[in-house]
Parts: sequence; structure tokens; C-alpha cells
Amino acid sequence: MRNVSEATVTEAVTEKFAGCDSPRLKQIIGALVRHLHAFVREIEPNEAEWFAAIKFLTETGHMCDDKRQEFVLLSDVLGVSTFVELINNRKEAGMTETSVLGPFFVEGAPALPMGASIVQDATPADLLVEGMVHDKDGKPVAGAVLDAWQTAPNGKYDVQDPSQPEMNLRGRFTTGADGTFSFRTCLPKEYPVPTDGPVGALLRATGRHPWRPAHLHFMIEAPGFKKLITALYFEGDQYLDSDTVFGVKDSLVVAPAAHGDEGNSRISYSFGLERAA
Ligand SMILES: [Fe+2]
Repeated sequence: MRNVSEATVTEAVTEKFAGCDSPRLKQIIGALVRHLHAFVREIEPNEAEWFAAIKFLTETGHMCDDKRQEFVLLSDVLGVSTFVELINNRKEAGMTETSVLGPFFVEGAPALPMGASIVQDATPADLLVEGMVHDKDGKPVAGAVLDAWQTAPNGKYDVQDPSQPEMNLRGRFTTGADGTFSFRTCLPKEYPVPTDGPVGALLRATGRHPWRPAHLHFMIEAPGFKKLITALYFEGDQYLDSDTVFGVKDSLVVAPAAHGDEGNSRISYSFGLERAA
């Protein structure tokens, strides 16, 4: 292991891990070394750049606490979160596609009766959301628990905004025998990912905007089915084609239709769940 050179260093490091007992860990660390070394070989960082990289990762760690996860955000803006999600959710035709979970899901949203509003302040609940949860044959899924959460019209989630009641714009609904669901809410709003940390600095330095299109998050669980984490997006949103975390899929874009005569609107969506393996 002496006299490593540019030509031999990758092999020397790989060799060091040759005794790893776990085949999977050995595969992962081997690929990590190979790709990391190829990256260094390609960009040939000077030492100032290398220390800047170390400093960036250090600041990313320092930004994390129990409410803020800057590494998840970094993974999101680099498209890695979406990539991992795609690999783990290769869907059969007709089954609902997934979308990023994001950092704003909260356990324990209030269980509400069908048709209830998830708006807990004076904001008009002028959007009706309805649909059905079904299996791959189109049969209704009974007992599916559908968790929905979204931003207020100011683009903020309740957990980011002390002016909103706790659990505002969050609700859980359980389907009956017919698999249908319905609830009322307001239209969510587009919002920027947090930009006060190193990931925000990265976006600014590279000329990228931090915005996500407006969306309504869903997590749907039912006994015997794979958990579905997805979101619905809205036709015409200015950020559909430039979502900073790459979450938009055509199959998840809905167009609200007029509903009633008081300026209300309505969306309808059927969620297809895959059977658990
Ligand atoms: Fe979100």
C-alpha cells in the first residue's frame, strides 16, 4: 500500500475493503470509492475547492435539527430523492405514481368524517376534493386511511407559521365499502424551499430558483396494500416544468372545475394502490 499514484490510488482503496463480510456493503462502498474517485479525477479540485466542499457539507450538517433536515433538502434539489423514489416505486400501468414526501408531513393529523373541511381558520374552504381509492382491477379499497396536507394561501405549512392553528390544513379520512373519499379545503399555494442555509446558497450560486409548484400531499395506507406517498399538482401552475425538487408527473396534474355558483371549485382523483408484496 506504499507509493500510491494517481493511477493506483482507486485500486488501493478498493483493496482495503476487500475483506468486508457483507456483500451488499462491499458493493456499496466499492461503488462509492469508484465513483468518488472518478469525480475527483474529472474535476481535479484545487485544495481551496476541496476545503470549500468540506465546509459546505459541515454547514449542511449544522443546519439540521429535529425540525429542519438540510441533507434531505440537498438530496431533493440534486434530484436524488426523486431518483430513489422512482427506483423503489416502479409502477404497473394504471397505478398512481408517487411524488416526494417532503419535510412537512406530521404524524397524528385529526381523523375527520368524509366531507369535512381541513381548513381550521377563517380561510374559505372553497375547493372540494373527491375521488376513490381502488386496487389494480379498479375495485374499491375499503378501510384506506388517506392523510392529506398542504400549504395555506400564504404558501406556508402550519408547522412553519405560528399564525396558523396547529394541524391546520391536515386531515385523515378512512374510506368505507365504496372506497370513495371527499373533503373540503382551499387551493394550496406554490412555495420556495428554505433558502437560508447552504442549499439556498447553492441554488443562488448556480442561478436556480427555489420554488415548488402548489400541491396537495397525500399518504394512503390500507391493509394488504403498499403505502402510497404522492401529491396532486394544478394545471397552469407556473412552476410545473421547473419544480426545484423534480416532483411533478403529468399523471398527477389536475384541473379544478367550477363547482356550484359561489366561485367554488372541485377536483376529482382516483388513487390506484398496489398490493403489498
Ligand atoms: Fe409540500
